[in-house]
Amino acid sequence: MTALVHTKADLAKARAALPGRVAVVPTMGALHDGHLALIERAGEIADSVIVTVFVNPLQFRPNEDLDKYPRTLDADVARCEAAGVDVVFAPSEEEIYPDGRADVTKVHPREGGEILEGESRPGFFTGVLTVVAKLFHLTRPDVACFGAKDFQQVAMVRRMVRDLDFPVEIETVPTVREADGLAMSSRNAYLSASQRRTALAVPRALRAAQAEAVALVGAGVSDLDYARRIHDAALAVLEAEPGLVVDYVRLRSNFFSVPFVHNNIARILIAVKVGDTRLIDNALVVVK
Ligand code: PAJ
Repeated sequence: MTALVHTKADLAKARAALPGRVAVVPTMGALHDGHLALIERAGEIADSVIVTVFVNPLQFRPNEDLDKYPRTLDADVARCEAAGVDVVFAPSEEEIYPDGRADVTKVHPREGGEILEGESRPGFFTGVLTVVAKLFHLTRPDVACFGAKDFQQVAMVRRMVRDLDFPVEIETVPTVREADGLAMSSRNAYLSASQRRTALAVPRALRAAQAEAVALVGAGVSDLDYARRIHDAALAVLEAEPGLVVDYVRLRSNFFSVPFVHNNIARILIAVKVGDTRLIDNALVVVK
């Protein structure tokens, strides 16, 4: 039986009654099979599972989709119930930010927080890390699950946990995709049928990058050349797709140092817009 709680006081009571190792899965709701993979993993590595459902206004810019972001709490709770979740915490905005959004003390990431997603969406990681820090304090988890789909987000959360000594383990769960390769996302619901087809250029571009890396094996090119050619292979696929606007295509080893390639692996990270809908995705690239 899943307990649905809306206040910090009720969450504290429910949390106190949970046995054993506790996992938290922070979400913004509109749960899909990607979220479900996190919840299943949480159930494997902990005795009790808390899912949080909160569309965090602090991580949306004024011109973004805060108001139209899908809110489906009843269906979310039903999915959690079916997955054996112990507690769903679905607070109101006032519960989380009683003094208003502007007046909170915030977690500001520096290095790593101002590139890629942080560059395209200034203040995004401040909003994410601030709410994740609050959710960690409120749920007191032993472990927290995040999706590799938002690769920079997990990296920033891991960095916060290390820098601020949160007593929590971070578990990264692989990206769950639709049968045709599109990464599952609550924002996919915004896409029309033809935009949905256009969006498939993103996983195609990731595969092109991986294929280029394989093709370059033994070619004896420098790391910088590898990075450029893999990047260009992905970009070419995206640019061939009308109706899709590229925000960025980047190859990174991590978010905190310069090398593009490290220990022969890198990530290719993509952000695009299809109509008004912003989509991100990434994949591992093995080089040399
Ligand atoms: P949301 O977009 O709802 O995602 C919640 C979690 O589900 C994140 O860890 C995300 O990486 C993961 N996820 C989403 N789609 C996935 C997919 N296709 N495969 C695997 N995991 C997937 O990310 C957020 O919410 C917010 O920023 C949050 C961390 C809750 C802070 O507000």
